[in-house]
Amino acid sequence: MKKIKLGILAGGSSVEREVSLKSCANILKSIDGEKYDTVVFNIEKESGGDWLYRLKEERPDIIVSALHGGLGENGSMQGLLHCLGIPYIGSRVMSSALCMDKKAAKTLLEANHIQTAGDVFIKRTENVEMYADEIRQLGFPLVVKPNRGGSSIGIEAVKSVEELERAINSIVEKYNDDVLAEKLIRGREITCCVAEDNDGIRVMAVLDVNKKGDIFNYEDKYESGVSSALTDMPPFMRDMVTTIAKRAFRLLKCRGYACVDMFVDEEQVYVIEVNTLPGLTENSLVPAACRSVGITFGEFIDRMIEFELG
Ligand SMILES: Nc1ncnc2c1ncn2[C@@H]1O[C@H](COP(=O)(O)OP(=O)(O)O)[C@@H](O)[C@H]1O
Ligand SMILES: [Mg+2]
Repeated sequence: MKKIKLGILAGGSSVEREVSLKSCANILKSIDGEKYDTVVFNIEKESGGDWLYRLKEERPDIIVSALHGGLGENGSMQGLLHCLGIPYIGSRVMSSALCMDKKAAKTLLEANHIQTAGDVFIKRTENVEMYADEIRQLGFPLVVKPNRGGSSIGIEAVKSVEELERAINSIVEKYNDDVLAEKLIRGREITCCVAEDNDGIRVMAVLDVNKKGDIFNYEDKYESGVSSALTDMPPFMRDMVTTIAKRAFRLLKCRGYACVDMFVDEEQVYVIEVNTLPGLTENSLVPAACRSVGITFGEFIDRMIEFELG
């Protein structure tokens, strides 16, 4: 059988570059060498470079993206591949852009009666004083995050207006991003790993995240071992979260796979965000979801490729 020419995109210029390189290493380790001829496109930190020329020359049959954050996840790279006519697994341009913009995704979910954390959205050019009343109404503690961030980079919980102002300034300065200040949700943090094939959309696994403090931070995600464990929830609660995760996936027009971050507090379910290019490192949630349903991560990639190439 003729091998499929598989291109992997890795690296990139976002703050999640290091995670991307680890995701790429895990994909390379997991895929079946009998099935694929693999070419890695290591996208440099700076713009330019020869990866684009190589991509046009090599023209892989399919792309698997190990990029996370920034241009890799916000629809830009998806648009480039679309223009080049190179197929890829995962979400398309609009869905990628929508999910990357946390506030935009939340607005669409809320409009469809999916609960999210109450928030105040502050554009990077605005003064936080404009929102004093809204912030007072929301109350502390708040979680402050870059609107288009990832891997928990730049996220912190704040308990006062002073801490809030400092956190906002820090995000604007460091990441040149807009800011989302959200009500801190208590309760159990879970992720639903959603996968799609010709049979439809299903939740592969509902995972509890292993975190040490309130925030599931960078270290918990990538440096302290396996970041998740299968939940043991009452069946009615499991049904509720899986139904909401599938609805969120559909409403945000995701494709192939995505992870829906959620909180469950008593019987309230909140969607925190939807990741269209979640981490694929050995310790990440998607490989853990594969293990929990008895398939290897390599088989998961096979299925995603089959879904695209038929
Ligand atoms: N509103 C919130 N209440 C409580 N914890 C939150 C809230 N928003 C985010 N967090 C914590 O911060 C982590 C990262 O936030 P998230 O919005 O998922 O951004 P990222 O794209 O960086 O993963 C979450 O996994 C969770 O632990
Ligand atoms: Mg998240």
